[in-house]
Amino acid sequence: MVVMFRLHVFCLAMAAAFIPFAAHAQQATLLVDVDHRPQISLDGPWHYIPDPYREGWGPNPDHASLHGYAANAHYVPGGPLIQYDFARSPTLNVPGDWNSQKDSLFYYEGLLWYQRDFTYHPKPHTHVFIHFGAANYAASIFVNGQHVCDHEGGYTPFDCEISGIAKDGENFIVAAVDNTRAVERVPTVRLDWWNYGGLTRPVSLIEVPDTYIDDYSLQLERGTQDRLEGYVHVAGADAGTQVTLGIPGLHIEKEAVTDTNGRASFSFAAAGLALWSPEHPRLYAVALHAGSDRLNDEIGFRTIEVQGDRIRLNGKPVFLRGISFHDEAPFRSGRAWSDKDASTLLGWAQELHCNFVRMAHYPHTENEYRLADKLGLMVWSEIPVYWGIDWTSPRTLEVAKHQLWEMIRRDHNHAAVILWSMSNETPESPERNAFIHELVVEARREDPTRLITSAIVTHFKGTTATLDDPLGQDLDVLGYNEYIGWYMGDAKTIPDYTWQNPMGKPVIMSEFGADAKAGLHGPATDKFTEEYQDSVYRQQFQMLDKIPFLRGMTPWVLMDFRSPMRQLPGIQDNYNRKGLVSNKGEKKQAFNTLRDYYAKMQK
Ligand code: GCU
Repeated sequence: MVVMFRLHVFCLAMAAAFIPFAAHAQQATLLVDVDHRPQISLDGPWHYIPDPYREGWGPNPDHASLHGYAANAHYVPGGPLIQYDFARSPTLNVPGDWNSQKDSLFYYEGLLWYQRDFTYHPKPHTHVFIHFGAANYAASIFVNGQHVCDHEGGYTPFDCEISGIAKDGENFIVAAVDNTRAVERVPTVRLDWWNYGGLTRPVSLIEVPDTYIDDYSLQLERGTQDRLEGYVHVAGADAGTQVTLGIPGLHIEKEAVTDTNGRASFSFAAAGLALWSPEHPRLYAVALHAGSDRLNDEIGFRTIEVQGDRIRLNGKPVFLRGISFHDEAPFRSGRAWSDKDASTLLGWAQELHCNFVRMAHYPHTENEYRLADKLGLMVWSEIPVYWGIDWTSPRTLEVAKHQLWEMIRRDHNHAAVILWSMSNETPESPERNAFIHELVVEARREDPTRLITSAIVTHFKGTTATLDDPLGQDLDVLGYNEYIGWYMGDAKTIPDYTWQNPMGKPVIMSEFGADAKAGLHGPATDKFTEEYQDSVYRQQFQMLDKIPFLRGMTPWVLMDFRSPMRQLPGIQDNYNRKGLVSNKGEKKQAFNTLRDYYAKMQK
């Protein structure tokens, strides 16, 4: 019931903010593990029409599908007056953001309409969904002129059912995507990354039988090293529907039946189980059967918990040698989405001897999580509750909760994910504390097996930082960001700083670093030179080594990334240059310095 209640509440909030939608639009849902289902890809060129004046909604947004661009009308010389025609319009590639594909759209923020035709042949006893990997920021989807669903949140997937709407033969889809920044949105108006708009991740058709598995979870039972527990949810199933769960690698075949909510629960011994860890990222093939539906996955089993100020992986203390990164494509910039993007980014993290990555500041493309499972990279995953969110708006809270729900729903079977982060650098206030408290409650309800954290701004009295932000009370692990040597003081002062941890919780230094233009060399006292960045890292290590409760770090940042906040000509040119690698793949001095530091730590 939680699921349906969550979707219903969310839609009410949605309707209030975006464009009043025709009542018959149904909720977007989220199918788990779709990338293991057969898919009909809708990727490739889609026609597009930028719509800064929001003309495409037509005279009455409620009937956009009749009089607006969603009707997909075609201009015929001598015919009725039509002032748009997708078939005559240019195209954008999907997946992909629009800003990095067209110079004319480089700075574009607003509404843009996508359209493409597709052929489909409905099958009996079959549901068909359109699956969107992500659409930044808000999207309204129309098929054959009918409004099928809406979604808000630019970094999480959604599925829209089009059974009975998709007809036999030729069909068309129109997607209105709007990346306008707004106070009540998540993230809100100020952010230090490029607000890439569009259908930024793969789009496909997914077919499932009458009753189908839309969610499941299988994890190592806490406090054990050889018992597994979980559930399988079968949409549309009557109570008593049989579900089979198999793990051939452990010679396990278990059966259970669904309850009145369509949920079948499992708990069983798993003798001989090899635990997942960075050193041994063992994954097991898992096969699920319910009625005529089949779903396979590859899952690792591990426990992650906190004891005092220590983080324990599979019961043993672990230090998180990490790096932060944005979901931006190496070399070509723009939103990352391909397996190549994922292997380049995580490949660099491995070169640094990392066992951990912070995916900032929003859920990244799912193929990065899959690869992290395989490579043995633990993951910090975050929702974009970033800087000054509208804490007092119930609608904003609903949107943030929904993004959190979608992040957990999509990624809760990835062993690599050990931390859910609720926010980044949010200014302390009672409203903020209450807002994030609600998120923490939601996260613990949705997934009681992982650790909860946030990245908090460090405040200093002189050269002492006391990690007492009240937000920490709600968290398992405290993430603190500090820029000593860059935004405050210079590099040589860094070792003078000391840290107090009154809450006695594990601490991760979730950001530190300095900008450097690759290839710019000079005295280590000159900001933006590689030498300066390198000296900041060397001094940071001296300070960090002295912090007894430090359990990890994720320096800012793996690769230079685009941001309209960074305008220094010849040096920044729309890029945050705190990368250890430039956007063109050039490794800076500090890359080797961090690599050697982690190599020594790893021994
Ligand atoms: C902040 C913030 C990042 C930003 C970084 C910077 O801490 O969390 O998103 O890019 O600092 O200033 O470079």
